[in-house]
Amino acid sequence: MRNPQLNAAGDLTHLLTLEGLPAEIIVRVLDTAVPFVSIAERDVKKVPLLRGRSVFNLFFEGSTRTRTTFEIAAKRLSADVINLNIGVSSTSKGETLLDTVDNLVAMNADMFVVRHAQSGAPHLIAAHVNRTGRAHVHVVNAGDGRHAHPTQGLLDLFTIRHYKQDFRNLTVAIVGDVLHSRVARSLIHGLTTLGTPEVRVIGPKTLLPTAVQSLGVRVHHDMREGVRGCDVIVMLRLQSERMRGAVLPSTGEYYKHYGLTAEKLSLAKPDAIVMHPGPMNRGVEIDSA
Ligand code: CP
Repeated sequence: MRNPQLNAAGDLTHLLTLEGLPAEIIVRVLDTAVPFVSIAERDVKKVPLLRGRSVFNLFFEGSTRTRTTFEIAAKRLSADVINLNIGVSSTSKGETLLDTVDNLVAMNADMFVVRHAQSGAPHLIAAHVNRTGRAHVHVVNAGDGRHAHPTQGLLDLFTIRHYKQDFRNLTVAIVGDVLHSRVARSLIHGLTTLGTPEVRVIGPKTLLPTAVQSLGVRVHHDMREGVRGCDVIVMLRLQSERMRGAVLPSTGEYYKHYGLTAEKLSLAKPDAIVMHPGPMNRGVEIDSA
């Protein structure tokens, strides 16, 4: 079956997940992003790449970083940006997601940036626009449930490449609530596709997916053992909004075993970098220092 985010020619037409995305496409995105890093320092901050295009931000779930940076990016690429206020939109009156999308397509939307609490919502929209012959409309997943957060994954890959250059000699540890983390899933797919030889996941059994090894990672339940010799440590937030039932004795107990402190960090390589997708809970998964 064809990857739903690629067209018949193999070009990226939607960005839904890093899973199954060819390494060449990921590298092309990272390479394309390089000259834009310094755009904020230029006198002329805008480029006309998306002039005349309309980007609709549909955030059905809270966001600070992703929604804001998509708006900034689209404006710097000269697109018209429409931020739908979901709380007062017609979806709150019972309109279906696809009816909302059809209405916005009729207003000449070219791109939907979608965050949704339900895994698969951006796929549903992409399949709908494909099926209804609106090939000019593109969908970008800005985080769906616990499934995928591909743009966060790309940003994390970009950051790691910036500091470490080559993925093929790295040990990367992802620590914490992997079970509920779309960020972890996307980063694991990206890292393994780009040839990272050792990706570790570290956490208590209750916060790691069953059969997580099938994603190509090593499992550690002891954090000190897991971070030893790492080049990159990625800390995850406890995603209590997605937890069902008691998966932890207490946040204090969690911090004692899995919180990143200077002492635990000293076990990683001396030039190790520490990353966190945010929002960050100081004193829960990471020491405030
Ligand atoms: N990293 C991230 O997705 O943050 P937001 O939830 O603030 O967008």
